[in-house]
Amino acid sequence: MPSSFELINDLRTGKESIGVIGAGFIGTSTALYYAHEGVKSVVYDVDPAKIDRYKKGECDVINLESWSGMSLKEFVVKGMITPTNNFEDIKNVKIFFVAVPTERGGEPLIDYVKKVLEQLIPLNPKLILIESTLAPNWVKELGLNNLPVCVATRRDWFSNPNCTLKTLTRIYCAATPELDKLSNDLMSIVTINLRKASSMEVSSLVKAIENAIWHVELVAVQELAMIYDLDVDEILQHVATHPQRMRWYANIKVGGYCVPLGAKYVRDSADHPENLRLFTAAIEQNERTPVEVVKKLVEKVKPKVVGVLGITYKNDLRVHTLSPGIAVITELKKLGITVLVNDIFYSEKEIDSITGCKWLNYPEDMKVCDLVIVTIDHKKYYETPVWDIMRNIKKDAVIVDNLGVWNRYKGFLKNYYQFSRNFKM
Ligand SMILES: NC(=O)c1ccc[n+]([C@@H]2O[C@H](COP(=O)([O-])OP(=O)(O)OC[C@H]3O[C@@H](n4cnc5c(N)ncnc54)[C@H](O)[C@@H]3O)[C@@H](O)[C@H]2O)c1
Repeated sequence: MPSSFELINDLRTGKESIGVIGAGFIGTSTALYYAHEGVKSVVYDVDPAKIDRYKKGECDVINLESWSGMSLKEFVVKGMITPTNNFEDIKNVKIFFVAVPTERGGEPLIDYVKKVLEQLIPLNPKLILIESTLAPNWVKELGLNNLPVCVATRRDWFSNPNCTLKTLTRIYCAATPELDKLSNDLMSIVTINLRKASSMEVSSLVKAIENAIWHVELVAVQELAMIYDLDVDEILQHVATHPQRMRWYANIKVGGYCVPLGAKYVRDSADHPENLRLFTAAIEQNERTPVEVVKKLVEKVKPKVVGVLGITYKNDLRVHTLSPGIAVITELKKLGITVLVNDIFYSEKEIDSITGCKWLNYPEDMKVCDLVIVTIDHKKYYETPVWDIMRNIKKDAVIVDNLGVWNRYKGFLKNYYQFSRNFKM
């Protein structure tokens, strides 16, 4: 086996490639950032359709290319990134990055990482760098301290240029000092700031805890929007003028598989999870708020048909895990209300299979809706001219805008309410 120095050198000179397991948001960004620094990768994914698209240079991770300023196609054509779903193609790789999912249905799940480790260990790799989120107790459960592993969970927030793979401080810990050194050298190729943690458990808890605390803050703000008959968003803007405070935004549901899951990763590994009262309360309240919002809207508006715009948890990103749109649709359907759904990042067929609802042609079909709920601030909704909304909205229909996408039009739109401004209605 070559030394660490030789290995890094072989990567830098193109003699060796890194292996990336999982071609999602995280794995694809790893391949792109390393390719940008002249390091080749073989990207392995179990999804053959995704790999076929990747081979043509079609990146289905929305916005990743624009945020990173890099082109998958360019690197695939140059041979810097080789997508594959044939496991044989990674058999000789010595350094792996693991970027497979660690949740299913909004709950942490160890199975993906476990399976990948069972496949990789027989290949006798020099290093397996785990980028996926981990619950700290998984370190023991997976026996990571006895494997050639480094835990370096990703904390990126791609839409913010200060939080990319390059710019955000990366916390890591490997199984031995030699592997720490190799991991450091390897990550330094793309990341400016690295910080060694004292154990793998600590390394994995960093991401879980930063998300869990953020989740509590966001749910607190969400609760305020439900309670006060005041412009809570304005209050939050004023609060943000304090240098030690963030600019918080109230959301009907804090979604995605990062922030709301943080507390669940922490809870799953705590000796006495019943003592994590604040984290638990936040998880419960975040489930309850969309239910309360829908109940109130149905009581007030008594809609027969509701149009829901957006099923993703974040603007202009194709991820609908734990999203406000899905939560609202689920509650409306439970009450037997007809729901039409639009999301520009999904096809009509996908909307049908994910939500069981009919497609809403945007903006025309708003004409048949008694209530329109805009759950997310996709650019397309934001950029709709006010006359297009006015022309296509049913007379007397109520508009509830979760994040204030059309707030600037409120003088023109009758019955317009924003969740964090005047939701007392
Ligand atoms: N998306 C983010 O912003 C973000 C940020 C930080 C951390 N993370 C974490 O990184 C991990 C991956 O997240 P993601 O957003 O890239 O997920 P993703 O769902 O977009 O992609 C995961 C990919 O792994 C593939 N996969 C599943 N099992 C596999 C296997 N056995 N072998 C090969 N491929 C397999 C899937 O087909 C999918 O393409 C998760 O643990 C997540 O919590 C994500």
